[in-house]
Amino acid sequence: MDSRTVPFPDGALAPVTASRRAALQRRATGRWSVAQRALAAVYGERVDPAWWQKVAVLLGRRAADRPDDLWVLDAEREGAPDWFQQPDRIGYSLYVDRFAGDLRGVADRVDYLDELGVTYLHLLPVFRRQPGASDGGFAVADHADVEPSLGSWADLQSLARRLRERGISLCLDFVVNHTAAAHRWAEAARRGDAKYQSYYLVYPSRTVPDVHEQALPQVFPITAPGNFTYVPELEGWVWTTFYPIQWDLNWANPEVFEEMLGVALQLANAGAEILRLDSAPFLWKRMGTTCKNQPEVHRILEALRALVGIVAPSVLLKAEAIVSPPHLTSYLGLGGPRQCHLAYHNTLMAGLWMALATGSTARLTSLLQEMPPIPKDTAWVTYLRCHDEIVWGAVTHDLDGATAESLCNRLSLFYAGNTSGSFSRGAAFQTAPNSPSRGSNGTLASLAGLEAALESSDGEAVETALRRIRLMYGVLLGFGGIPMLYMGDEIGVMNDWDEAEVREDGRWLQRSLFPWDRAGTRHDSRTVVGRLWRLLRAMIGRRVGTSSLHASIPTVPLDVDVPGLLALLRPGPEPVLVLANFAAQPSPFPTALPAPFDGPVDDLLDAGDGSSTAPMRAYAVRWLVPDDH
Ligand code: GLC
Repeated sequence: MDSRTVPFPDGALAPVTASRRAALQRRATGRWSVAQRALAAVYGERVDPAWWQKVAVLLGRRAADRPDDLWVLDAEREGAPDWFQQPDRIGYSLYVDRFAGDLRGVADRVDYLDELGVTYLHLLPVFRRQPGASDGGFAVADHADVEPSLGSWADLQSLARRLRERGISLCLDFVVNHTAAAHRWAEAARRGDAKYQSYYLVYPSRTVPDVHEQALPQVFPITAPGNFTYVPELEGWVWTTFYPIQWDLNWANPEVFEEMLGVALQLANAGAEILRLDSAPFLWKRMGTTCKNQPEVHRILEALRALVGIVAPSVLLKAEAIVSPPHLTSYLGLGGPRQCHLAYHNTLMAGLWMALATGSTARLTSLLQEMPPIPKDTAWVTYLRCHDEIVWGAVTHDLDGATAESLCNRLSLFYAGNTSGSFSRGAAFQTAPNSPSRGSNGTLASLAGLEAALESSDGEAVETALRRIRLMYGVLLGFGGIPMLYMGDEIGVMNDWDEAEVREDGRWLQRSLFPWDRAGTRHDSRTVVGRLWRLLRAMIGRRVGTSSLHASIPTVPLDVDVPGLLALLRPGPEPVLVLANFAAQPSPFPTALPAPFDGPVDDLLDAGDGSSTAPMRAYAVRWLVPDDH
């Protein structure tokens, strides 16, 4: 411990029973000083012994409130810290209202999720939200109250329990960068309360905002241009990175840290096993920079991880950091104190779509090869689609301006179905030229060609689209992180054009009401839905039994001598080589695979299309294992 750290004030644990106290003291060893070092670097003298005393009291209170079953879970997970890295982790992300009306509706649908093989359920924001448009609930009006139309806090707790009983870990969105303009802190700020005004970033004139704007990118240049919003009651400009109803919190104020730590622990005590840290890169602002990925963000995450870990060591933090590769891996804390346990692999996600559009994997392979390794006790969350757009900046960050612009254009046009040879039905998003925010929207089925194929009643095109979807799942599930499915993709839900128009935000293309009638046909293998369901179920089944898909094993992207092929090696005692053909035509089987794949091999996904070393059909995917027989 260095001279600046204060010992953990054991008196703060008074509300906790003696047996819990011993565990807390043990867990505080190390974590408490990690947090202090991290926050001293951020806040300096402002986090003094009195401030730390308040934090310790907060930890003591939340530890006393922690339900017994979660306390038991903490102990179990301390004994098996790789629980989330096991190949049986399969994520699924949904909007409660779109999927099942409300929280009780989700509880009624647990059998469906279980049947699919889901073991990790991410609920998009369920908290009380800004009335009217709320950015899909990401404008949170109260982090400690469930949105009344979705249910109650008791419903949330009971869903968490129900899921836990079925071996499904609940992940909740923890919106850390901002609150709704309707949040009570923002309301108090508008009423003139100086304490709450200091929770936000308010500028009396445009002078400072204008200087900031010169270096700041815009997240929604088309639908919400600019990063500041004039608020008449404050006679000033409030920092609003996203929509004007989302007021950025002033994390330079240690009271904000303390409040948000309290929220994190409250969500943990409600039964969340994973907290998705929404928009984490934006927490710290520094003049002259993009105000993303600043060093202070990482110190804040280190402290949050350490302090949450004292009370709720079973809880994971997941970074929603849609940033370029060099920045992305820092959210997992390589080489220093750990930050998040999980991060979205947005480079892989956007890169897969790039490969599918171009039929070439060279760039994706090199982007993956250049990524720094991640700590062995963390994991990528891999995904194909989510509620947001595919951000092309994830695969163009290292290109010069004109080349990046041309690749972005090419991909955006392709996925909007506006280039010859495009099979996709999607839409370009935030199309401002030269903007790193440019992206594409659409569901997996629509972007992969199923929508267009079904419309044209072209049987062969339908087969090809199904093969593309299988290919994408094959890489997703074989990559080695935690694969995250997005609601409806498992049954080929198509774009919702009406919703996107009504909401004036293209991301609603992939947020349609869950079609339970369509899901009802999933056991009929003559239907497209039935075929999708069966192929995904089979792949999930394979994944669960494949030990080298444990997330602690790093994926090794290999150079192969065939331009359309992606080759991902999963080393380990039972190695697997994921081989995927992104070309629209057959590709030869590569000639120079490393041992033990240079001899006879088997395909764990055997699609019955010939020997495992036969040429790869268009969009074929194999999980190769050495054939020992
Ligand atoms: C995240 C969410 C996105 C939301 C934004 C602001 O990126 O995924 O849907 O608009 O944060 O909260």
